[in-house]
Amino acid sequence: MAQQIVRCKHVESELTRFLAGLNFDGIFLLTDENADKLCLPHIQSVPALAAAKKIVIPAGDEHKNIETISRVWQFLTDNGATRKSLLINLGGGMVTDLGGFAAASFKRGIPFINLPTTLLGAVDAAVGGKTGINFNGLKNEIGAFAPAIAVFIDASFFRTLDHANLLSGYAEMLKHGLLSSPKEVDALLQFDFDRVDYEKLNDLLFESVLVKERIVQEDPREEGIRKALNLGHTFGHAFESLSYQTQKPILHGYAVAYGLVCELYLSFLRLDFDKNLLLQVAHFAKAHYGKFPFDCNDYPQLFKLMQHDKKNENNTINFTLLKAAGAVEINQTATEKEIFETLDFFREYL
Ligand SMILES: NC(=O)c1ccc[n+]([C@@H]2O[C@H](COP(=O)([O-])OP(=O)(O)OC[C@H]3O[C@@H](n4cnc5c(N)ncnc54)[C@H](O)[C@@H]3O)[C@@H](O)[C@H]2O)c1
Ligand SMILES: [Zn+2]
Repeated sequence: MAQQIVRCKHVESELTRFLAGLNFDGIFLLTDENADKLCLPHIQSVPALAAAKKIVIPAGDEHKNIETISRVWQFLTDNGATRKSLLINLGGGMVTDLGGFAAASFKRGIPFINLPTTLLGAVDAAVGGKTGINFNGLKNEIGAFAPAIAVFIDASFFRTLDHANLLSGYAEMLKHGLLSSPKEVDALLQFDFDRVDYEKLNDLLFESVLVKERIVQEDPREEGIRKALNLGHTFGHAFESLSYQTQKPILHGYAVAYGLVCELYLSFLRLDFDKNLLLQVAHFAKAHYGKFPFDCNDYPQLFKLMQHDKKNENNTINFTLLKAAGAVEINQTATEKEIFETLDFFREYL
């Protein structure tokens, strides 16, 4: 399952070198309408891309579906793709998820490369081998585990990303830091969002991607320790769903940031997680992600959403918690009382 993670200073030269060492009989480029305009110019001078056949799909998660992937398969067929052809996915998580699955399924699998152009894509979606599309209104319902042969990490793509999408991806970096070590959390909490230093971001990002890659390599199919990556996501998914139900949708990473605060509080309650670090993370979330407004009338609904989380087994709500930064405990649970107390803390603090 190992995939090469290439840390780029200049994605053009890294990609040029990488492609020169590969053997393929055709090259295809998949991108969405935004990445086509904003990101393709970053790699336009790569010689091997001159002959690439490009397919541009509409942007947005609502297009991560069977109709779009069917168009991609059709394009590959019409343009003579074979098992020795290479697909390059240039875009955010929507493009790398859909493109990865298109490659994994076309002729039972052709090689593909991911060039993530959003922070969320780089830190999460493009690495780890999960690919897929939404189906029947369910997220990522159809897909496959299929790693890219390489993922190119270059934060200069993010210069055109809006602040909210940058912060959304950053929440997953914070999660990786918490799974890794106090030192990494500390470095992440100090990042200056008022004057974004993209080189510094690239360094932090690369470390962060390696945290995910290490965990995935240990457990590619999520049978055990890969559940560590669910930190912040039990509360997070409930917040995300509530935000959709109340027609005030928030980005996934915002829900994760709020979820992290809650699950660190739960870690403090159940596993004696350091209160001081909990407060530092809560302070960071408050300063950057702002408020997530709900009141105690929403508690039963949030609880119900957590009970229906697909991560649960044997009817108990499943959490990944921490004894300390880097000391992960998977398969934890909590009582309704503890969950409500956590929501109280969250509302008081944020
Ligand atoms: N496979 C996994 O393990 C995994 C993990 C996390 C998320 N995901 C998936 O990733 C998707 C979310 O990823 P996302 O947030 O990147 O969404 P996205 O790909 O929809 O990108 C968000 C928006 O940013 C635009 N964009 C892309 N690059 C840009 C750039 N450099 N500058 C300006 N705009 C740019 C896109 O066109 C889009 O409008 C979801 O489909 C989610 O299910 C998958
Ligand atoms: Zn996530």
